[in-house]
Amino acid sequence: MFQPGLLAGRRYLVTGGGTGLGRAMSERFLQLGASVVICGRRKAVLDETAAEMTATYGGKVETHGLDIRDAQAVDAMVERIFTDGPLDGLVNNAAGNFISPTEALSSRAFDAIANIVFHGTFYVTNAIGKQWIRGAREAGGWQPGKPMKSVLSIVVTWVDNGGPYVVPSAMSKAGVATMTRSLAVEWAKYGIRLNAVGPGEIPTEGMSKRLNPGEEPGARSKATNPQMRPGTMSELQNLATFLMAPGCDWLTGEVLFMDGANHLATGGTFYALREWSDAQWQEARDRIEAQNAKDRGQRG
Ligand code: COA
Repeated sequence: MFQPGLLAGRRYLVTGGGTGLGRAMSERFLQLGASVVICGRRKAVLDETAAEMTATYGGKVETHGLDIRDAQAVDAMVERIFTDGPLDGLVNNAAGNFISPTEALSSRAFDAIANIVFHGTFYVTNAIGKQWIRGAREAGGWQPGKPMKSVLSIVVTWVDNGGPYVVPSAMSKAGVATMTRSLAVEWAKYGIRLNAVGPGEIPTEGMSKRLNPGEEPGARSKATNPQMRPGTMSELQNLATFLMAPGCDWLTGEVLFMDGANHLATGGTFYALREWSDAQWQEARDRIEAQNAKDRGQRG
């Protein structure tokens, strides 16, 4: 779909780039010639991913182990990234989510999600935006026709209609969509464009175990999606590349849903879970907690 070398000479940061959707997008950028910086909470996982990706595609992958909930750690990472060289784009992919009846959430549970998705996404975007704005000013100001920086944030298809059973995430992702639309206006004069993508179900371990625990990955999409299937990684890789590459800079401030029209047909939410019994919710919670424990083990 894209010319080889399309992203040559570019450098992108992908948060949560060690696994899942973030890793897949990083791989495609690398394959098309970009160098990639990935960050996440599990440094060992990032380093393993970096080694595998460079063995397959060559190129350069840098890794930073941090939790984007920690604003000081974010600032320190961004400082190091820019000390090493310029950055051309940011993919806000890192997130946290799990299904739960909202009345079963503690304030800490809400914060666990909102601190990553709402606060963390802002910390990273603003820290990088400050560097880009300073760079634009030092260069005498950005002018139309000059290269633009690109921010892509991964959101959800229910940013406009609410997300029952995933309320902390839905509230936070709606905030990220609003950030995208707001900063596309405010930062355009510095040569920064921002878009967001709400993908439908593209099965990954982190997502399937927390949003559809105990189900065959993709089964729900096969049953309900108008195209009778979940999305594929390559579709997200292609859309992300289109949004991060130069060539369509006038596209900014948009929140694109890529879900086979699922949200149009069904609302795209977890409304079907209203049928679940307490026992089903307990089983789901046990499965989610088992996945959390596994991840925690990898963080050491
Ligand atoms: N239902 C209700 N509450 C839950 C829960 C569930 N399934 N899972 C966790 N919580 C609550 C915990 O009980 C705790 O609250 P408490 O202290 O009042 O009991 C609170 O949430 C924080 O839990 P903890 O496990 O300490 O949080 P954490 O910060 O270590 O991890 C996430 C929370 C969201 C970051 C964790 O799920 C994670 O690491 N996810 C990986 C990324 C991800 O979610 N990817 C999938 C995206 S679709």
